[in-house]
Amino acid sequence: MARQLLLNAFHMNCVGHICHGLWRHPRDRSREYLRQDWWNTLAGTLERGLFDGLFLADIVGTYDVYAGNAEAALAGAVQVPVNDPLLLVPGMAQTTRHLGFGVTVNLSYEAPYLLARRFSTLDHLTEGRIGWNVVTGYLDSAARAMGYERQMAHDQRYDRADEYMEIVHRLWEQSWDSDAVRYDRESGIFTDPAKVRPIDYRGRYYRVEGIHLSEPSPQRSPVIFQAGSSPRGARFAAQHAECIFVMGLSKEAVKQTVERITRELAAQGRRREDVRILAGLTVVVGATSREAEEKYAEYCRYASPEGGLTHFASSTGVDFSRFDLDEPITERKSEANQSALAAFTRKHQGEPWTVRRLLEQMKLGNRNGAFVGTPSEVADEMQSWMVEADVDGFNLVHTVVPECFEEFVDLVLPELQSRGIYKTAYAEGTFREKLLSQRRYFRAR
Ligand SMILES: Cc1cc2nc3c(=O)[nH]c(=O)nc-3n(C[C@H](O)[C@H](O)[C@H](O)COP(=O)(O)O)c2cc1C
Repeated sequence: MARQLLLNAFHMNCVGHICHGLWRHPRDRSREYLRQDWWNTLAGTLERGLFDGLFLADIVGTYDVYAGNAEAALAGAVQVPVNDPLLLVPGMAQTTRHLGFGVTVNLSYEAPYLLARRFSTLDHLTEGRIGWNVVTGYLDSAARAMGYERQMAHDQRYDRADEYMEIVHRLWEQSWDSDAVRYDRESGIFTDPAKVRPIDYRGRYYRVEGIHLSEPSPQRSPVIFQAGSSPRGARFAAQHAECIFVMGLSKEAVKQTVERITRELAAQGRRREDVRILAGLTVVVGATSREAEEKYAEYCRYASPEGGLTHFASSTGVDFSRFDLDEPITERKSEANQSALAAFTRKHQGEPWTVRRLLEQMKLGNRNGAFVGTPSEVADEMQSWMVEADVDGFNLVHTVVPECFEEFVDLVLPELQSRGIYKTAYAEGTFREKLLSQRRYFRAR
């Protein structure tokens, strides 16, 4: 059987996620993000399209690097206002049966003992369909809001995250035996105390002693997603992740990132096929190439390059408002998202990046590929990325919602299915079983 593409819809519990400004488009309904039934309907559309997951991004803090304040972010709805993504999940789980939920939580400001319980609770309520996109954050504004002067240094954040992962996995995997709950009305024993044990973790950053509060859930550990591609971030991903998200402007750039991750996996004693790698992708599809191009041009009329630049400034920690339009953006140190910055300090098509070029590129917020065309042209591109860049699938960045997902489901998926590279029915099982054909987290002992 041909390799089957995996698909996540990429969204966020706010109006403006990546394609900034599109909330102004007359057909866009992202303003309905405050309503649970909006999310349930979206989840239903994705399940109709046999999507593997809905991947929800999140950010703690506001984008205040551009011009040194949050005005542009607030005015343009650049990931603010933003609500908690985890709270959307139970409602959507109730109205779907197979769709997985990959939810971003920044571990830097959450106690591991409490977050472990929240994920266990969601794994129970979704019957094994929860995943966690592990992030450490990249905003000083978040650190200040949480009572610190600035965020921890980039690599140190990953060191602390290593400890965090050790703790939560001990809680999920080791604290309770699978048969600990007896629920025996006659003897009056609900849980056999001999089958439950506290963890006792003492590290540099955390100290946790206690019994996990939740009984074992279908997957125990949520499916672990990760997206760091700096050298330290890729090492963290190779050590912990089951699914890795990558971004790249071209197939070649993504290919190189996948090769780097593959080398890092090998250094950790893992194989490329032990993980799933998904690339960010924007799709604008039409019945004819012309129709697709016209739709893309129409979207671009509503897009906000300034919104894209505001987002990018905070992602990279660089205040682009201080740059002349044609000043080359050169390599610099950042404690924010190092791979995003590195991607835009290298030359692109032989020319250095400048703010003028960034504004053009950020039209639809794009730090990833954009495929514009007929279903068959889009499918050709997806297939060639899968084969040549060795990605397992895509995170579909939303443009105008819900039409971008509805059109993808109605137009592109049948084309992928007719080529034998997309499933025609869901497999049974948990999110992990569906994605990786594995029952347990690979580090479960
Ligand atoms: C597809 C993708 C999605 C991401 N989603 C989030 C997110 O929702 N919240 C967040 O704080 N960071 C997010 N990030 C940023 C990563 O967590 C990480 O900070 C970034 O990739 C930089 O890591 P690095 O410096 O190790 O490369 C995302 C990155 C990628 C590639």
